[in-house]
Amino acid sequence: MMKNEPIKGFSKYTKEAKIEWLIENYTNQPNESRQMIEGYWHAQPEVQKLHDEFIENTISNFYMPFGVAPNFLINNKMYAIPMAIEESSVVAAASKSANFWLDRGGFKTEVIGMVKVGHVHFLWEGTNVDWLTELFDSNKHLFYTHTDDITKNMRIRGGGIQDISLLDKTEFEPGYYQIEVKFDTRDSMGANFINSCLEEIAKTWKQLVDECEAADQPDVTIVMSILSNFTPECLVRAEVSCSIEDINEGSGIGNQEFADKFCRAIRIASIEPYRAVTHNKGIMNGIDAVIIATGNDFRATEACAHAYAAKDGRYSSLTHASAEDGIFKFWIEIPLSIGTVGGITSLHPMVKFAHELLGYPNASGLMEIVAVAGLAQNFSAVRSLITSGIQKGHMKMHLLNILNQLEATDAEKIEIVNYFKDKVVSFSNAVEIFCKIRGISADSLVINKK
Ligand code: MEV
Repeated sequence: MMKNEPIKGFSKYTKEAKIEWLIENYTNQPNESRQMIEGYWHAQPEVQKLHDEFIENTISNFYMPFGVAPNFLINNKMYAIPMAIEESSVVAAASKSANFWLDRGGFKTEVIGMVKVGHVHFLWEGTNVDWLTELFDSNKHLFYTHTDDITKNMRIRGGGIQDISLLDKTEFEPGYYQIEVKFDTRDSMGANFINSCLEEIAKTWKQLVDECEAADQPDVTIVMSILSNFTPECLVRAEVSCSIEDINEGSGIGNQEFADKFCRAIRIASIEPYRAVTHNKGIMNGIDAVIIATGNDFRATEACAHAYAAKDGRYSSLTHASAEDGIFKFWIEIPLSIGTVGGITSLHPMVKFAHELLGYPNASGLMEIVAVAGLAQNFSAVRSLITSGIQKGHMKMHLLNILNQLEATDAEKIEIVNYFKDKVVSFSNAVEIFCKIRGISADSLVINKK
């Protein structure tokens, strides 16, 4: 058989056959690869089976560190926040921020809205829009009754469809209209619920227009029915504040100067998209880590956050700061459409544990915790940027990755970490001290790229 030739029916193969085919065709050391893949299987077969069934063609698991950032005081309650992330300095930065604000009253949060949204995108080439609107308005009740079965359980829990409206989008695309539906999905993210409702509404609408006897109007063409991951009305705010006199402990500059520099850094992120993207990336370091640990959809969260950051026509900062009347205030406002039930929240053992750690919050409670993680992360990043610079702390945390790449022994690691206690780490000086301690020349070093 030719190597790397296409394969048919791969998803039907057993897991073992998939692995054999893969390592045979795409790897150079089949035994090593097989061992490595199997080494990441869960020791308990029933847990591995869960993972196998999350997606198609699972051959193994992909580990990421699961850390916790303790000492978060949120609305006067203490939390240890679970974070799944590979970047060395993120949990350390979150913990540092948590400790800093613990002594200053902690984080205060508020959920501003929990509205989710979806659309039936359709084409209608008619000219009598009043007729279409009248038909829509006088039959709106059908959208509710035809989705009764789908919404029943959600309504029992206090949620369901909140509003349905017809939107004319023909100025952007000829014949383009939407039915916009707003939802309350309670503690679930609600993607499947929303999409099922929308598909039913689309069917009802098409039938209604196409079969309308009274009119010689064109038919409706449904383009698609899908939730929107842009949920600006599913919004949470988190805030910290303290007296300016208390703001700058141990970073070597005066309090007012610190507050002014901090606010200026935030203003720069507000007006300059090049900075705003990096600034918001730092916020998402904290947010994604909690989103992943709690089994939520980080792609949806990312897409929504960045769209929200650009809502006023220019990509801008998600956080804001002020230093007025002796008070430093720093806050974030971010849409987070997330859930605490459904999806993998009750399946993935580590996700279940993360929810337990947080005291089983409902969706709005989790929105608050996630927003706090983003704000805390951003506070630490900006604090470092305007004082010591980011690399000092970042490279210190990254040092162990460098030493692992060099295959340093535990004793070498201890010695080198000690050496760098009062020095700035860089890749080249870490290599230099490593070679010195091991008594080898840098030229003889083969860095482990396997
Ligand atoms: C690194 O992952 C994130 C930062 O670049 C964020 C920032 O610049 O604000 C440190």
